[in-house]
Amino acid sequence: MIVKSAAKLNLTLDILGLLPGGYHAIETIFQNVDLVDTLEFSFVKNKNDTELAVELILEDSTGNSQLDFPLQQDNLIAKAAKAFSKNTNLGKSLTVQVKVQKKIPIAAGLAGGSGNAAATLVALNQHFENPLSLSELSDIAATLGSDISFFIYGGTCAGTGRGEILEEVRHAMQLSFFIVKPKGISISTPWIYREYDAYTNQQPKQRATSNLVDCRSALQNGDLDLLVKSLNNCFEPVVFNAYPEVQLLRDGMLEAGCLSANISGSGPTLYGLTTSPAQSEQVQQRFLQWCAERKDLNQIKLDTWTANSLKFGTSIITHQLIQ
Ligand code: C5P
Repeated sequence: MIVKSAAKLNLTLDILGLLPGGYHAIETIFQNVDLVDTLEFSFVKNKNDTELAVELILEDSTGNSQLDFPLQQDNLIAKAAKAFSKNTNLGKSLTVQVKVQKKIPIAAGLAGGSGNAAATLVALNQHFENPLSLSELSDIAATLGSDISFFIYGGTCAGTGRGEILEEVRHAMQLSFFIVKPKGISISTPWIYREYDAYTNQQPKQRATSNLVDCRSALQNGDLDLLVKSLNNCFEPVVFNAYPEVQLLRDGMLEAGCLSANISGSGPTLYGLTTSPAQSEQVQQRFLQWCAERKDLNQIKLDTWTANSLKFGTSIITHQLIQ
């Protein structure tokens, strides 16, 4: 079975305060884009039939080392497969082999690992002929990480709570983006939340408007001006302070013609909204030219992509029955 697992952007991201247990209450708009990993699942019978086993193989085109992408049982793919088996009592005599073709950079704010975990839950559910509903899969996803449930529904969703309470945002806008990831910088989620707390002294910021509300209504009404105004990420001051070069890259994206330039999730990946796929290509060329002319950016290696919005987070491409 081949499953596509898409990256996400956070069109908005605000922190409202702390939740019991130390998590942060957030408001965000998640948006899937067509930067995707491909997961190939094979199911083989194992000799010991007490516990589902997982074997991972990485085929990487991003330069991520296997150190960044754990191939052991702490990988979210393995955790997701085991959580599915535990919750359904299915698959105890199976070894699930997963070949992962990685395109989404790791620890980049694009939730590649979370998407892979959701794709695993969907693949196993499909393999066993859908014993669980989407909402049951989403509940399991939420036990594995705060932004994994989004990928069960996919497309565009408003996320609240830790990010696991989701409401679909139906809209007809086709969004085009230009995406930039500095290769040498990876940011962990716990680190960014800790730094944010230190930066704000844990004082919730008084907000004049809700970016989530503005962004949702902009999408629903096809209002590009309001959409551009609503795009934000409360981690930006923290990331720009720790990595000033990311702020420089943001400036370059605006100079190259992006309508906006923001960090996605915990960063450091930046995305810019454009008016069309063709404009994304133009912006990419102008941006790379701009970087080439800047001596202070000579040392910074970048990955860049053009991308478009998707209506799903996880999709099954081929499905073969149990061998
Ligand atoms: O849920 P997830 O595993 O993605 O979270 C990783 C870490 O990020 C948590 O342990 C917590 O420190 C932080 N986090 C948070 N508030 C959220 C989501 C994540 O503080 N809403």
